Amino acid sequence: MNVTKMSVRLAAVAGLALWTAALHPATATEAPADRGEYVARAGNCVACHSIADAPPFSGGLKMATPLGAIYTTNITPDAKTGIGGYTYEDFDRAVRLGIAKDGHRLYPAMPYPSYAKMNEEDMQALYGFFMKTVKAAEVANKPSEIPSPLNMRWPLAIWNFVFADDERYTPKAEHDAAWNRGAYLVQGLGHCGACHSPRGLAFNEKGYTEQDGQFLLGAPLDNWSASNLRQDINTGLGKWSQEDLVTYLKTGHNRYGTAFGTMTEVINNSTQYMTDDDVGAIATYLRAIPGGREKDANAFAYDASTAKDLLAREFAKPGALVYAQSCMTCHLADGAGHAPYLPPLAGNPVTVDPSPASLINIVLNGTQRIVVDGMPDAYKMPQYRVLLSDQEIADAVTFIRSGWGNKAAPVTAKEVADMRKLTDPASDQINILRMK
Ligand code: HEC
Ligand code: HEC
Ligand code: HEC
Repeated sequence: MNVTKMSVRLAAVAGLALWTAALHPATATEAPADRGEYVARAGNCVACHSIADAPPFSGGLKMATPLGAIYTTNITPDAKTGIGGYTYEDFDRAVRLGIAKDGHRLYPAMPYPSYAKMNEEDMQALYGFFMKTVKAAEVANKPSEIPSPLNMRWPLAIWNFVFADDERYTPKAEHDAAWNRGAYLVQGLGHCGACHSPRGLAFNEKGYTEQDGQFLLGAPLDNWSASNLRQDINTGLGKWSQEDLVTYLKTGHNRYGTAFGTMTEVINNSTQYMTDDDVGAIATYLRAIPGGREKDANAFAYDASTAKDLLAREFAKPGALVYAQSCMTCHLADGAGHAPYLPPLAGNPVTVDPSPASLINIVLNGTQRIVVDGMPDAYKMPQYRVLLSDQEIADAVTFIRSGWGNKAAPVTAKEVADMRKLTDPASDQINILRMK
C-alpha cells in the first residue's frame, strides 16, 4: 500500500471517530424508573437467559462446564415452562442459593455464589420485574448434555457447603459509602469474579472478596482471558484513573483499551445502563484492590526502536513483517492506535496478559460490535482466520507482546492451531438483547 493512500485512510478514520463522539456525548444516566429492571441490568440476567430471536428470558443459551454443556432455563413468568409458580421465597432461594423451586440444585454456571450477596430490597424489586414486566413465554427447557452419572445433582449440595457463602453483603464500617456500594456491585450483582477470578479444580472461584489474593486476578473462560482487574501496574488496572474506568464501563472504550470477547456483552447489556454513581462506585472499589502479581513491578516504559525499525522497513524480528502488512494501518507503527476507537497495543494490559488466549482469539476471529446508546461501534477488529497461517498469527502476537517495551512470553503456532479448532469467527449480528 502506498503512503499517501494510507494517510488518507487514517485521516478518514480519525475524522469519523470524532464525528461519532460528537454525536454521542456521554450522557449521565438518570435514576431508573423501574428499580427491578435496573437490578436486572446490573445483574445482566439477560446475557445468559436470552438468545437472539427468542422471547426475552426464555433461556436456551448453551454454556460449557467442565462436565459437559448445560442450557440456561426459561425465567419468564410462564407457569408451565418458566418461573410463574415461584413465590418470592422460591425466587430468592434460586437466585441466591442455587436451589430451584422443586428442590434440585443449580450448577454454579448460574452465578448464585455472587448473587448471594444481594440485599432484600434489590431482590424484591427484581422479583417484581420478572413477575410483572417480563412477558410469559412458553418455551421448554433443554436437558443438560452432562453424561450420567455425573449429571446427578446432589453432589452440588456438598459443593455449596464447601465453596459458596450464602451471607448477604454487609457494609464495612472502615470504608465509605462509594467503596461499599462498589463492593456490593462487583462481588454481588455484577458477578465480575465469575469471569475475572481464577477457578479451582471444582470450578469454584478462588475468593469472592478483596481479602483474597486471587480475587479478580484474571482467568480463562470461553477461550478468552478475562484480564486482571487488580492494581498490578502492567497486567492489571494500575495505570487507569477513576475516569478511565468509568469511561470504559459506560462506553466500552478508553485511552488504554476496548472491550472485546465476552466483555462486549457486559458493556452492551449491563454496565452502560448503570448510573454514573454506580459505575463510579465500581471504579472506586476496584482501584482499592492491591496488585496480586509479585513479578509485575516495573512499569511499562515506551521503547521507540520498534517504531523506528518498522518505518525503516527493517523486519528482522519474527512477526514484524506480518504486523507491518496486516496490523499497522490501524494500530500504527508506534503501537498507539487511535484511542479510544482503535486501541493502542503498546502499554495495554491485555497485550501483556500472561495468558495469550484473548490475543490469539481476537486475531483469529475478530470482534463483535459494541453498541452504546443504540449506536453500533464504527469499527471492529477484522478476523485473520483465513488470511494468516497459525505461524503468522503466532508471530504477530509474539511481536505485539514484545514490541514498544511490552514484556510478555512468546506464542507458538500450536497454541494458535488449538484455538482455531475451538473457536468460530465473531458473528456480525448486533448482540444486544431486549428485556421486554
Ligand atoms: C452466567 C450466566 C447466568 C447469569 C448471568 C444468570 N443466570 Fe440464572 N441460570 C443460569 C443457568 C446456567 C441456569 C440453569 C442451571 C441448572 O440447570 O443447573 C440458571 C438458572 C436460573 C434459575 C432457576 C430456574 C429454574 O427453575 O430452572 C433462576 C430463577 C435464575 N437462573 C434467575 C436468574 C436471575 C434473576 C439472574 C440475574 C440476576 C440470572 N439468573 C443470571 C445462568 C445464568
Ligand atoms: C462474561 C464474562 C465477564 C464478566 C461477567 C465481566 N467481564 Fe470484564 N472482561 C471479560 C473479558 C474476557 C475481558 C478481556 C477482554 C477485554 O479487554 O475486553 C474483560 C475485560 C475487562 C476490563 C478491561 C481490562 C483491560 O485491561 O483492558 C475491565 C475494566 C473489566 N473487564 C471490568 C469488569 C467489571 C467491573 C465487571 C463486573 C461488573 C466485569 N468486567 C465482568 C469478561 C467479563
Ligand atoms: C481495520 C483496523 C484494524 C486492523 C487492520 C487490525 N486491528 Fe486490531 N483492533 C481494531 C479495533 C477496532 C479493535 C478494538 C476492538 C473492537 O472494538 O472491535 C482492535 C483490537 C485489537 C486488540 C485488543 C486490544 C484492546 O485492548 O482492545 C488487539 C490485541 C489487536 N487488535 C491486535 C491486532 C493485530 C495483531 C492485528 C494484525 C494481525 C490487528 N489488530 C489488525 C482494528 C484493527
